[in-house]
Amino acid sequence: MGVWSGITALVTGASKGIGEAYARELARRGAHLVLVARSGEALERIAEEIRAEHGVEVDTLALDLSADDGVPRLVAELDRRGHAVDLLINNAGAGAVGPFLDSAVERHVASVELNVVALMRLSHVLGGRMAARGSGGIVNIASTAAFQPMPYQATYAASKAFVLSFTEAFAAELRGSGVRVMAAHPGATATGFFDDTTVTMNPALADPPARVAARTLDAYAKGAVNAYPGRPLMRVTTWTARFLPRSAVTRLAGRLNKALGHHRARHLDAPSASARA
Ligand SMILES: NC(=O)c1ccc[n+]([C@@H]2O[C@H](COP(=O)([O-])OP(=O)(O)OC[C@H]3O[C@@H](n4cnc5c(N)ncnc54)[C@H](OP(=O)(O)O)[C@@H]3O)[C@@H](O)[C@H]2O)c1
Repeated sequence: MGVWSGITALVTGASKGIGEAYARELARRGAHLVLVARSGEALERIAEEIRAEHGVEVDTLALDLSADDGVPRLVAELDRRGHAVDLLINNAGAGAVGPFLDSAVERHVASVELNVVALMRLSHVLGGRMAARGSGGIVNIASTAAFQPMPYQATYAASKAFVLSFTEAFAAELRGSGVRVMAAHPGATATGFFDDTTVTMNPALADPPARVAARTLDAYAKGAVNAYPGRPLMRVTTWTARFLPRSAVTRLAGRLNKALGHHRARHLDAPSASARA
């Protein structure tokens, strides 16, 4: 518990899913929390439960990290409330599923703004402060999707490839600075990630978020640069790109996503192909 007790951890995307699990697991280990997402009511409900269960301090901030002023507003609010962040968990993420051309380009752009730009901005400003004081940590949530191109989740996988590459390089730059940087690569995890789409996740093949959160934090405590908090098979899928040509890996990933029905997937708030025709 030594690493966690009394620190202040900022968790983005904490209103549900893996982010909520990070918040609960960090609190269980003794960390104070700042929770961020767009859904203020959900954040407050979770904060109330965590305060009652673990007796740690929990603050909440409802804002859209994919908006131009999202990260500047968050940082201004942290300063106004007097929070010095010891651990940043860049977890908030989203992604279009289905053929690239079937989703409005705004959906792709918004996911890059969130998964890539907001994560990079937060790493820059809070990482800079941590480096100046010689302590702290950043955990960037990527995915097993980071390791290969994925037809029918093209933008999502590419955004996670950025997170992987960026995090490994940033971690190397900060080695010896007192600031630790790690990427986490969950595989399929039982959350509402596909809730607004026609895709359903097979619960038998998805890991529980609480386990993913605990394993991520254990790997961080051990000093890992990359964490694979899902079941072992999920990690094995990340090896194919090491052994096969990229064209074969892309074909395989496309076949797998087709088998999961992702080639027909659409977002429920988007017009269907027949309605558009
Ligand atoms: N589930 C999986 O199978 C899986 C696998 C590998 C990696 N991951 C990664 O794990 C992370 C968490 O995913 P999840 O499955 O827990 O997803 P989720 O259940 O959909 O939760 C996403 C979280 O991000 C927040 N969020 C979304 N858009 C936001 C925005 N514009 N500004 C601020 N917060 C925003 C959501 O809250 P609001 O809607 O309230 O804003 C929510 O708290 C993501 O980075 C995802 O890519 C997931």
